[in-house]
Amino acid sequence: MSARLAGRRVLLVIGGGIAAYKALELIRLIRKEGGAVRAVITAGGEKFVTPLSVQALCEDRVHTDLFSLTGESEMGHIQLSRSADLVVVAPASADLLAKMAAGMADDLATTLLLATDKEVLVAPAMNVRMWTHPATVANLETLLRRGVSVVGPEEGPMACGEFGPGRLAEPAAILEAIVARLDGERILAGRHVVVTSGPTHEPIDPVRYIANRSSGRQGHAIAAALARRGARVTLVSGPVALADPAGVAVVRVETALEMRAAVLAALPADAAVFCAAVADWRVEAQGRKIKKTGAPPALALVENPDILAEVSRLEGRRPRLVVGFAAETGDLVAQATAKRARKGCDWIVANDVGAGTGIMGGAENEVVLITEAGAEPWPRAGKDAVADRLAERISGIFQ
Ligand code: C5P
Repeated sequence: MSARLAGRRVLLVIGGGIAAYKALELIRLIRKEGGAVRAVITAGGEKFVTPLSVQALCEDRVHTDLFSLTGESEMGHIQLSRSADLVVVAPASADLLAKMAAGMADDLATTLLLATDKEVLVAPAMNVRMWTHPATVANLETLLRRGVSVVGPEEGPMACGEFGPGRLAEPAAILEAIVARLDGERILAGRHVVVTSGPTHEPIDPVRYIANRSSGRQGHAIAAALARRGARVTLVSGPVALADPAGVAVVRVETALEMRAAVLAALPADAAVFCAAVADWRVEAQGRKIKKTGAPPALALVENPDILAEVSRLEGRRPRLVVGFAAETGDLVAQATAKRARKGCDWIVANDVGAGTGIMGGAENEVVLITEAGAEPWPRAGKDAVADRLAERISGIFQ
């Protein structure tokens, strides 16, 4: 299977028109190429395809309403408009093109088309007279001038019985237009990167375990950001409640020992990013459930292998770039600089996880990148943005 869109995210706006049914095939084709689709259907679009069928194909919630409270609290329309690498409008009706040209924002689709900072690709579909009407011609000229790109329409017999240009481009042609726009920045194409993410669970006995508060959000975001740049990513993840990032091979593990084995099995790699909060200790094997006996049990702890340090010192198989994380609760730069030397890695991404920072398990991160050149503080940002910046830096090494 080719995966020319692995890790790429498309926000698909489905406008009104009989051709809306072809959007379903388009979603299937994008996903077959490894891309993720988030869909928005206009009120007109909903007359031709149901949110349920779109949702089933996307495997993601479909958005229809600007003022949906749950929608706004889960993800605001501004965030939605920027949560993709490309916005595709298919079919783009004459009305939708007119609203885009005029900068109107009276529903979810038009609002996010006005709010987006991403490239927009439109696939018009309408009756031939509507397509050739001077109003539509002028609207399209305006949109092209603003950098919107167009695929189709094609010429042929139309649902309304007329013949001429106005038919929605075939889904395969729209797919190629999407690939052409998203395939260019894949700086890490041909590179393999191993990423660890999440906590580890260390069993105390068959029912209990030791864990930590890591959510895996940062590591998963890094895996996704690397995949978007074309890398083949192996994500070795401890137990998390997150969806697998698009276009990433996920290996699920529970314990530090399993994580170590999975990382070593995934090598060789060009780069490795160790974001997991690996438990420092495991409990010596307990085959049976520990019973209450009156006195608390003494747990014998054994130190876990340090995967980052081990991979950093591998002879022959060491990835060219090894990146570790350092979660500290004080003296951040000094601690992380010492950790970089101790572990033998190239970079350390250090963050303060002290009480009140909301970083461990939260949506944002504030990090300092420690390299050979010194400490580089980055502004506080969403974990996705931090991941993008780190992926960009990693790409720089392999350019
Ligand atoms: O020493 P400390 O646990 O603070 O180091 C954190 C860094 O080391 C992280 O990059 C983490 O993923 C990695 N690590 C590891 N194996 C361990 C412990 C930490 O790979 N057993």
